[in-house]
Amino acid sequence: MNGANGHIVEATHISRVFPMPAGPVTAVADVTLRIAPGDHIAIRGPSGCGKSTLLHMLGCVETPTSGTLLFTGNDVTKLSDRQRSLLRLRSIGFVFQRFYLLPMLTAAENVELPQSEANVSKAERRGRTKELLEYVGLASRADHRPSELSGGEMQRVAIARALANRPGLLLADEPTGELDRATGEQIAALLDRVNADGTAMVIVTHDPALAERSTRVLSMRDGRIENETASA
Ligand SMILES: Nc1ncnc2c1ncn2[C@@H]1O[C@H](COP(=O)(O)OP(=O)(O)O)[C@@H](O)[C@H]1O
Ligand SMILES: [Mg+2]
Repeated sequence: MNGANGHIVEATHISRVFPMPAGPVTAVADVTLRIAPGDHIAIRGPSGCGKSTLLHMLGCVETPTSGTLLFTGNDVTKLSDRQRSLLRLRSIGFVFQRFYLLPMLTAAENVELPQSEANVSKAERRGRTKELLEYVGLASRADHRPSELSGGEMQRVAIARALANRPGLLLADEPTGELDRATGEQIAALLDRVNADGTAMVIVTHDPALAERSTRVLSMRDGRIENETASA
């Protein structure tokens, strides 16, 4: 159930201003962006230009201080905190540079957690978790804790976790930032497959090789989208 014209996200003139002792900091300024099902979008730009803040707003973690943000047609700023958490849990997957797996839980338990939070039955969770770990190529690591996994393996678990509740949108903030080049390539290929299998994605990246794989590349500067280029 997407919004007008089937968009998942319709952000119109959104800004995010942080009040600071030395004066307000505008992290994101007047961004208008539509995200359609199946989109493969990269956001590039220098450190501090507002990429993460924009991603957090698209992911309904932070709300814009001005402008309107519709997620599947719902005005995000009008939802209660609880409604917003449920929306995130069911409709949005997040992948971070530093993975953020829970260290005390095994790979399988990390992937099960968002499903438990969404009240998925134990039997269904088991099946879905197995299927997801197979999908990311880590079936043999199901019982390993993060400390027993390589960086690339941790990011695969994090991607499986992000997909646990079948979100329509996956948001990734520098997902290859901690990985060596070859491992980063493998993660990029996995993200391409996730997209090809039907999940829209927005990837913040410094890595030109990763941005090249997207069909829409947004360049940010000083909180604004300077330009958008389309690639094959
Ligand atoms: N919670 C916050 N409080 C105050 N300023 C912030 C906060 N988050 C980000 N900023 C500021 O907003 C700007 C954009 O930050 P960010 O979105 O993290 O940029 P990027 O991800 O492109 O490096 C920076 O100047 C940063 O210092
Ligand atoms: Mg950032």
